[in-house]
Amino acid sequence: MPLPKSAYVSDVWRDGIFANKVVFCTGGAGTICSAQVRALVHLGANACIIGRKVEKTESVAADIATARPGAKVLGLGNVDVRNPESLQAAADRCAKELGSIDFVIAGAAGNFLSSMNNLSTNAFKAVMDIDVLGSYNTVKATLPYLVESAAKHKTDGVTPPAKGTGGRIIFVSATIHYTGMPLQSHVMVAKAGVDQLAHAVCIEQGPRGITSNVIAPGPIRGTEGMERLSTKANSDPAVAGRGVPSGRWGTVKEIADATVYLFSDSGNYVNGEILVVDGGAWHLNGST
Ligand code: HXC
Repeated sequence: MPLPKSAYVSDVWRDGIFANKVVFCTGGAGTICSAQVRALVHLGANACIIGRKVEKTESVAADIATARPGAKVLGLGNVDVRNPESLQAAADRCAKELGSIDFVIAGAAGNFLSSMNNLSTNAFKAVMDIDVLGSYNTVKATLPYLVESAAKHKTDGVTPPAKGTGGRIIFVSATIHYTGMPLQSHVMVAKAGVDQLAHAVCIEQGPRGITSNVIAPGPIRGTEGMERLSTKANSDPAVAGRGVPSGRWGTVKEIADATVYLFSDSGNYVNGEILVVDGGAWHLNGST
């Protein structure tokens, strides 16, 4: 029995707000990104998710497509964000088959726990390449389409854009580089780079109507990242809430809601920002 829409996205959002919009998402088969895409599809969007594993990417796409009757969701596997050619081919195919790319979620990331002593140059580089270079490649592959989408809503330069905008990017970052975390030097450096890439895109592409923001999820229940970082807390709710002012870990739905906000008309004038969604955890952990 499928869960109701309210399990995936808050009822505050109106049905159809993303009708005729297309979202392109790297890392789209992962727990957080698939929830972000599913929420947008519930609200009217079509989508293209990108991943390295063919079977997993196709099956997650098929599952997301059940969110709304008539939804089109492409799952393109065998695409590595480190390979600009394969990414460009995927972006072109998305635009050709679905008609446009209005929103981009750059979510592909790599992570594992390792001390610097055990981290080889190649291991550090692998994470930098997936997170930073992969996000850059994603921008390059999709930017012409985003500019085209943003141009549809260009105004006189004084009036805010008309209803239902496009030309928006969200980078999925993290909070561990704000507080610091042992065994995560590679990820701390990579995510700091992702934040700055978002900032750079805002400055350079803002005049073309693009908005570029970051969502920085904190401890989110049931995600691959948290499973890798903290298995005990994942299985013990009493432990999980420690160190979070809100007293609990977050849900992927709460990341999906932040995504909807930034892509919706409510987020028109938010550009170059980092939206931390972590129940206040980094304020507390950063102060100790
Ligand atoms: C030390 C490791 C390692 C480990 C891999 N390496 N795992 N070193 N400890 N646990 C080293 C390898 O030995 C190799 O170096 C280098 O990393 C590249 O490994 P490959 O397996 O060849 O690379 P690749 O197949 O490209 O895999 C990339 C990966 C892998 C990042 C290493 O973990 C991966 O594919 N992850 C994708 C899924 C993922 O991580 N999802 C979680 C995202 S969550 P040598 O020197 O031997 O050649 C997330 C949230 C972060 O990002 C924030 C959480 C709060």
